[in-house]
This record gives sequence, C-alpha cells and structure tokens, in this order.
Amino acid sequence: MQHLEVAKEAALAAGELLRLRFEKPLTVNATTAHDIKLEVDVLAQDRITKILLERFPEHALYGEEGIVGDQTSDHQWVVDPLDGTVNFFYGIPHFCVSIALRFRGDVMVGVIYDPIRDELWSGEKGLPPLLNGKPFQVSARAHLAEAVVSIGLAKTQETIEAGLPLLGEMVHRVRKCRMMGSAALDMAYVACGRLDAYIEQGISLWDIAAGWLLVEAAGGRVEMEPRKDMPDKFRIVASNGRLELH
Ligand code: IPD
Repeated sequence: MQHLEVAKEAALAAGELLRLRFEKPLTVNATTAHDIKLEVDVLAQDRITKILLERFPEHALYGEEGIVGDQTSDHQWVVDPLDGTVNFFYGIPHFCVSIALRFRGDVMVGVIYDPIRDELWSGEKGLPPLLNGKPFQVSARAHLAEAVVSIGLAKTQETIEAGLPLLGEMVHRVRKCRMMGSAALDMAYVACGRLDAYIEQGISLWDIAAGWLLVEAAGGRVEMEPRKDMPDKFRIVASNGRLELH
C-alpha cells in the first residue's frame, strides 16, 4: 500500500509539472525522424526520482530518461515521465505519466496519470484497480468486428515496418483502428474498457509496465515477447482477453 501511495504522489507531482508546461515554449533536447526529446521529460523524471528514491533509497529506477541505482535490486521502479512526448510537443492533449514497481521482475504496482483529464489509474497486485477511486474492468466485446484497437507504430524504421502489415490486416477486421501516440494511455484505456486491444511491435518496458498490471488486474490479457532484433523492446498484445486477435 505504501508503495502505491508514493507512486501516486510521484505521478501527480510529475503530472502537475507537465500540465503547467503544456502549450508553453519548450526546450528541445534532441530530434530524430520520428521522435522528439524535450527538457520537460528530464525534469519530470527528476521530480519522480526524487520522490521515489528519497522514500525508498535502496530501490533502483529504470526510466526513459536514464537509470539510477543497482538494476539487480529486488525493487525496481519502471518510469516513463512523459509518454506521448510528440503529442505534448504538438499541443495534442493526450499524454501521461507512467510508473510501475517491479519486485524481482514481477510488476506489483502500476500508476498511470493523465494530467489533462485529471485521470489517475492505479493498481496493486491482488487488488481491484481504480480510476480516480472507482473500480473498473476491461470491455466485454468478444467480436473483432465490434472492436476498437489501437496499433502503435513507434519511431524506428524497423518498428514501423513491422507494424504496417498488422495495421493493414486489422483495419479490415475491426470496427476502427486508432493510433493515439501514448502506449501507456492505450494500456490504461484497454484496462478500463475504452479500447478493446492495443498492439505494438516494438515497445519499451517503461511505456507498458504500469499498464500491464492494470490490464491484467482489470480482467484482461497481456502477451509480451522480447524482440530478438531490438534490445529492450517487446512485441505486445494487450486486450480484454475475449478477442481472437491472432
Ligand atoms: C512513445 C509512445 C507511442 C509509442 C512509442 C513510444 P514516448 O513513447 O508511447 O505511442 O508508439 O513506441 O515510444 O516516446 O512518447 O514516451
């Protein structure tokens, strides 16, 4: 419980920073063809790190903006301080903070916070997950023809090329495909039944660790497979567990 409360405090604190900086002039640290790195990502991770590691100094932190501590420690925080950086930069109000805690590799706590809609999803292994304090579950839709599925295309040539055939196939089988730009929010939306599934061919653990716990705790299914050709990237299929996605 203590871990979950501190994770929520850290997510709200980083979310407040993001909300205050949204639609204001931004400092760009780096750009690539399909990605942007902002100073605010780093500032948000610093805020999260301070809160988590001051409280639990023996824990490690594995974040998109860098790692802290001994990564073989039993407790490891997995953090994306701003998932949906490109949305943030373009003024699209769809991004979030994602924080998970792993104990010996298993995700025990997951928190996702959307500072624009002020929505906080939180979960702890073995307990019902909550959205702003209210329990939720995955959707009941069992037919692909009625499903709304988010397909992530990520930011490298390899992940884009791996995702396109899947998008081409899915778009004919489901009601709608979506590509919303925040994997963590996709996971949160699958968990609470807004989306029926989320699929991405090359995603990092910090994008989906918190959502992994939330989807499973809400009755859904998460299948993850490490990519042999891309270090630290996973293929992921997260769903309500009722759809024939393969
Ligand atoms: C990205 C977003 C996007 C997903 C990419 C991620 P970032 O995270 O989650 O939806 O398709 O694979 O890298 O870079 O905005 O934290």
